[in-house]
Amino acid sequence: MKEISGNTRLFGILADPIHHVKTPQRMNEHFAKIGFDGVCVPFHARPDNLAAVVEGLRRLENLGGVIVTVPHKTAILELADEATPVARKIGAANVLRRESDGRLVAHMLDGEGFVRGLQSCGVSLEGKSVYLAGAGGAANAIGFALVQAGVSRLTIANRTPAKAEDLKARILSLYPAAHIAVGTPDPSGHDLVVNGTSLGMKEGDPLPLDASRLTPDQLVCEVIMQPKDTALLLAAQARGCKVHYGAPMLACQIELMVEMLGVAPAR
Ligand code: ATR
Repeated sequence: MKEISGNTRLFGILADPIHHVKTPQRMNEHFAKIGFDGVCVPFHARPDNLAAVVEGLRRLENLGGVIVTVPHKTAILELADEATPVARKIGAANVLRRESDGRLVAHMLDGEGFVRGLQSCGVSLEGKSVYLAGAGGAANAIGFALVQAGVSRLTIANRTPAKAEDLKARILSLYPAAHIAVGTPDPSGHDLVVNGTSLGMKEGDPLPLDASRLTPDQLVCEVIMQPKDTALLLAAQARGCKVHYGAPMLACQIELMVEMLGVAPAR
């Protein structure tokens, strides 16, 4: 058991409900691994009290920052003192970093976690053409991060095309030189195919795209962690594609959050 002293730096995760949250455990394991004197604890904050909780965080001198999750990812933007341009364009944040003067700065690292997850498995994105299924919360974060990582072309396809058009317009407003199109369920002709929808979590979900159009030269990627082998990944493997699982996204996100919160390894 870690010894907590007056010098221990404090981190937390804001959520409602809180009982299912596993991030503190993962953060504390990471702190132990790098020999950092910090502790991450769950903060149960109800939406009605979020403003008061955030005001308290601003005044806690030994707080490094907090991770922000459901249902606070959007509301936190208005309560933070600052937000990165990507978090503003997405309209959501998942990390609130407390600067030394008490200012709280909101960041969105969901998409970067996905990109780093791919890179950690040896996949480079620069110059690649990518098909992204979905235009919800996860797909928004991933879309911005893919363009930031230097993909040559991004095609966004969603059940509700207007949401794909809206995501395209917001990405272009930040990265005007990007090549972005709104696509159909047909993912052929792209190097990477990414499922950014929630389809595949539940048994009997339809596939997020037309898997009969997948070709063996494509890498098919999931954001879903449970089940590990989604129907899409099984269909992709049956068609001879390589696949990328959802788990590295979370592992890399923890790493990124720890870096973002200014945690330095012990010397
Ligand atoms: P998350 O935060 O997991 O991204 P979300 O913001 O609710 O969740 O987004 C869910 C995504 O899955 C959306 O792209 C949604 O498509 P719509 O924008 O058309 O709603 C997609 N999705 C969910 N159920 C779907 C279904 N049955 N068929 C096709 N797409 C679906």
